Amino acid sequence: MVRQRIEELRRQLEEHNHRYYVENAPTISDFEFDSLMRELQELEAANPQYADPDSPSVRVGSDLTTEFRTVRHRFPMLSLGNTYSLDELHEFLDRIRRETGREPEVVCELKFDGTAISLTYEHGRLLRAVTRGDGAEGDDVTANVRTIRSVPLRLRGEGWPDYFEIRGEVLMPYASFDRLNAEREAAGEPLLANPRNAAAGTLKQLSSAVVARRGLDCTLYQIAGDEIPFATHMAGLEAARGWGFKISDKMRICRTTAEVDDYIAYWDKARRELPFPTDGVVIKVDDFALRRQLGFTAKAPKWAVAYKFKAEQALTRLVSVDFQVGRTGAVTPVANLEPVLLAGTTVRRATLHNAEQMAQLDIRPGDNVYVEKGGEIIPKITGVELSDRPADSRPFVYIDRCPECGTPLVRYEGEAKHYCPNAGGCRPQIIGRILHFIRRKALDIEGLGEETVELLYDNGLVHDASDLYDLRADELAPLPRLGEKSAENIVRSIRRSTEAPFHRVLFGLGIRFVGETTAKYLASHFRTLDALMAATREELIEADEVGEKIADAIRDHFADAENRRIVERLRKAGLRFEAEAREQASDALAGKSFVISGKFRDHSRDEMKELIERHGGRNLAAVSGNVDYLVAGENMGPAKLKKAEKLGIRIISEEEFTALIAGARTVQADRPATDDAVSGNEPAGEKIPGGNGRDDDAPRQGELF
Ligand code: IVH
Repeated sequence: MVRQRIEELRRQLEEHNHRYYVENAPTISDFEFDSLMRELQELEAANPQYADPDSPSVRVGSDLTTEFRTVRHRFPMLSLGNTYSLDELHEFLDRIRRETGREPEVVCELKFDGTAISLTYEHGRLLRAVTRGDGAEGDDVTANVRTIRSVPLRLRGEGWPDYFEIRGEVLMPYASFDRLNAEREAAGEPLLANPRNAAAGTLKQLSSAVVARRGLDCTLYQIAGDEIPFATHMAGLEAARGWGFKISDKMRICRTTAEVDDYIAYWDKARRELPFPTDGVVIKVDDFALRRQLGFTAKAPKWAVAYKFKAEQALTRLVSVDFQVGRTGAVTPVANLEPVLLAGTTVRRATLHNAEQMAQLDIRPGDNVYVEKGGEIIPKITGVELSDRPADSRPFVYIDRCPECGTPLVRYEGEAKHYCPNAGGCRPQIIGRILHFIRRKALDIEGLGEETVELLYDNGLVHDASDLYDLRADELAPLPRLGEKSAENIVRSIRRSTEAPFHRVLFGLGIRFVGETTAKYLASHFRTLDALMAATREELIEADEVGEKIADAIRDHFADAENRRIVERLRKAGLRFEAEAREQASDALAGKSFVISGKFRDHSRDEMKELIERHGGRNLAAVSGNVDYLVAGENMGPAKLKKAEKLGIRIISEEEFTALIAGARTVQADRPATDDAVSGNEPAGEKIPGGNGRDDDAPRQGELF
C-alpha cells in the first residue's frame, strides 16, 4: 500500500519534473508539486526500506561533501575546430563536399556556452557524469549532476542501448546567474564573471545541496557508444529526446551553404533573446557513415566545426588610465572611458590587465578604442582605431613606481603583472589585507566596512589584522560617523570572531593562492597552525588540493617575520589555531595504528586518515614496530612495503580497510567535515586526484564521436 503510493508519487513527480524542466510546459502549479514532494519525503522518511537513489526527492542534493574521482573517458572528449570567419566556414563545407564527393546534409545547432559533460547510462539509469577534464580524463561529478532536474535519472520510452554515453553542456541560464550574483553581492562575496564560469564552478562544488539550489540546466548534443542504433545524428538525438533528455529544438538540417549562412545570421541576432548563453553555431555532418569517412585530426573531428559569434563591440575615447593596487600588491591598469552603451549597459571603465597588454595594443591617451564585453564582468579594450589617432601622439609609458606609495615596482618571473613589494607600508595593500581578514568567509567581522577600516588605518588605530583585537570602544566612538553604539557593536563582533573555526582563520591570513577550499583542506590535513607552519614543502604537497605553487606560497608566507609576528598576536588574542576534534563515528579501530601509502580508489589520502581517526585509530607517518596495519594503495613505495613485510605488519587493501569499519560506518563517516558552500571562483588548487579511473581500457577513438 505505502510502497505503491511511494512509487506512484515518484512517477508523478518525475513526470512533472520532465514537463517543467525539459519541455518547459508544466501542467501543475509549484504549490501542487511541492505538496506531492512533501508527501513523498514524509513517506520515504517513515519507510526507509523503500529508499531509492533515483527518487525525485534526492534532487535536492546533500550536504555531504563529495570527492571528485578522476575517471578516464571511454571515448576521448575532443574539442572542435573553430572559426570566426564565414569564408573559413565555407572552405570547411567545400572540403566536405570534395572529400565525400557529395552535397552532404549538415546539422546546424547552437553552441551552448557552459561546461561540457558526459553522462553514462546503464540499463536506462544514470550511472556516471564526468566533466571533460583534459579530454582524456575528467572528474566524476555524478552527485552534483543528479541534482540537475533536466537530467533524467531513469530513461523513459524505449530503444535505448543498454550502455551508452550522451554528451552535452551544463548551462547556467541567465536568470539563475543573475539571482546567484545578486545573492553574492548582498553577502559581500566576489561576483562570478559569467554564466560559463558559474556553471563550471558550480559543478565542482563540494556540496550537492548547493548545486541543487543554483538552477543549472543541461542540454545534450551528442550520443556516443559502441552500438548506436542510428544512421544519423538527428535521428539519434530525436530518439534521445523521447528517452527524456533535453535536446535543443533549435537544430536544423541544412543542405546548402546559403542555408547554413541564414541559420548563423538568424541566431547571431536572435540569441540575444535566449534565456541561456550561446557563443556560436556548431555545424556537423549528419550522416554517421560520412563522419566515419571524414575521420579526425589529433584533436578534433573533421566532420564538425564551430562558428563563433563576435562579441559586441563599441568605439569610445580613452580619457585616462588609473592604476589600482590590490591586497597582494598586484598593479592593474584601468581605463577611464567616455561613457558608451554596450550590450545593454553603459560602460565607463575597462581593464587593461597589465603592461604587456597595453604595449601590445599600443594604447595611448586620447585614442579611440574598441571595448568588448567578453566573458568578464569588467569590459576589456580589444583594439585601437589607428585612423583616429592624432599625429603627435606618443606611446604610453608604463609607471615604474607604485602610484600609492612610490616604491619601485617589480616583476616576478612568470607573472605578467607588476607588483609593489612594499607590503608593510603601502596603504591599499594593508587595507586590502584587513578587509580580506574580516570578510564573511574569513573572520566574518560585522560592522566593519571598507570605509571604517580606512578610517581606523588613517587614524593609526590598526595596521594589521591583529591590531583589531586591541581596539577599545572608547577609541572608536570619537571617530567620524561612528559613535558609541557602533563602536560597541564593532568591538563585540571582533570578540565574537575569536570563535571562528580554524579553517576560516587560515583563509583570513591571506596566504597567496590559499582560497577558502584550500584552507579547509589544509586545516583538515594539518589540524593545527603550528603543524602547518612547520611543514616542509614535501609535506605540504601531500595535502589534498595543494601543489607546488601553493606549497611555496605557504612557505614564503610563514618565512616572513612580520607575518609570524601577526600570527603570534592573533594567537594571544585567542583565535582558533586548531581544527575541532573530529566527531567520533565508532571505536572500531580503537588502539590500532595505521600507515597509509599510495593512492586509493574511493577516498583521498586525507579522507583515509580522517576515517581512521574517526573510528578511533591512530595515523602514523612511517612504518615502524608500532604500526598495526599498512593500508596499501596503488603505486605505493616498494621500500615501505618491504619494511612492513619484514616487521610482520599486516598489509591490507583499501577494500579490506573498508571492511574493517564497514559495520561501524555511519553515512557521513567518509567525508571531510566542511561547514558551508565553497565559492566557485577561487584560484583553483592543483588537484591531486583522489583515485584513478578504473576503466582499464585504453581510450578508444569512438568511431563516430
Ligand atoms: S559537439 C567532438 N555541439 O563546444 C566535438 N559541442 O569547442 C563534440 N559545445 O567541448 C562537441 N555546444 O563543450 C558540440 N552543440 C554543440 C555544442 C558544443 C557547445 C561545446 C562543447 C565542446 C566545445 C568544443
